[in-house]
Amino acid sequence: MKTSSRLNPVLACVFAATTLFLVGPTFAQAVDADAAQALIKKSDCSKCHAVDKKKDGPSFKETAARLKGKAGAEDEVYKHLTTAPKVKIDGKEEEHKVVKSKDEAEIRNLARWILSR
Ligand code: HEC
Repeated sequence: MKTSSRLNPVLACVFAATTLFLVGPTFAQAVDADAAQALIKKSDCSKCHAVDKKKDGPSFKETAARLKGKAGAEDEVYKHLTTAPKVKIDGKEEEHKVVKSKDEAEIRNLARWILSR
């Protein structure tokens, strides 16, 4: 049975590679940029936000820099987009816009996209 014992290391490699391939994306938390930008468009966020320019609201780069490395940053943004917190716009207190989605995964994807600017 010489041939089959020589096959084993090869099979082991294939299994290891398959496992890495399957497990990898769960840890990488890949961001779907197209979906994030589509949701921004749908929700009219660009009226007050841009990636690298301050409008009525801070730029997404500024927010990403402020929250960089902070534990719970994604949760903070998620909460900001779903609970309509009070914000100051032109010195006037208003409720922040709620994102136009009820899909937690879609909103979290947007939060990660903002944080990765
Ligand atoms: C009418 C204007 C307006 C719209 C529309 C708006 N925002 Fe905002 N947003 C603001 C303002 C003003 C702040 C700043 C709040 C503060 O600093 O207290 C803010 C804060 C934020 C923050 C937190 C920034 C930080 O550094 O803490 C995020 C994230 C954000 N907005 C994302 C969005 C997204 C995504 C949308 C679309 C669903 C959106 N905003 C729509 C005005 C707006």
